[in-house]
Amino acid sequence: MNITKKEMQALNQHLQQILTPKRYQHSLGVAQTAKELAIHYGCDENQAYLAGLVHDYAKNMKKSELIAIAERENLMTDPIEKELPEVLHAVVGAWLLPRETPVRDPDILQAVARHTLGDLHMSLLDKILFVADIIEPNRQTPHLEEERNMAFQNLDQAILRSLESTIRYCLEIGRLLHPRSILLRNDYIRKLKP
Ligand SMILES: [Fe+2]
Ligand SMILES: [Fe+2]
Repeated sequence: MNITKKEMQALNQHLQQILTPKRYQHSLGVAQTAKELAIHYGCDENQAYLAGLVHDYAKNMKKSELIAIAERENLMTDPIEKELPEVLHAVVGAWLLPRETPVRDPDILQAVARHTLGDLHMSLLDKILFVADIIEPNRQTPHLEEERNMAFQNLDQAILRSLESTIRYCLEIGRLLHPRSILLRNDYIRKLKP
């Protein structure tokens, strides 16, 4: 389902109001990168662009607000998410979008809901958004070019690499680790075994 040009303009204005300028720029970068990956892998480029544009819809909400909505609407998939409220911006964003914007495409909403923690059964669009979020050009990461190249060569490999860097980061800073990151890493290791 496509949204009209007018709706797209209004959506961009709305995003600029609810996101910080930096987060909005990041969203534009993710949208563009998702579109490029979609063209490369034969996915719908308009769907991918829109998913990228709105993926962080709930990112600038207060943690208490994210927890309140997630609890009220039963959006948590693991109790640990109450202690990691920042990951909830994905599912809360997917819940809010069709209620506050013209974005109602279930494929897009699913990709938004899964963009932070991933899922064991990701669609091509889910994977594209997950990876585009990491390799968009505004990201200040040391191996951006290498990660970008990998994403265009092997999407699953890029997902595995990102899961591993998330796990490593959590270990380094002593942060709680979401169990799905481990399950997913194991799954991708098996998937990528020659
Ligand atoms: Fe995000
Ligand atoms: Fe993001």
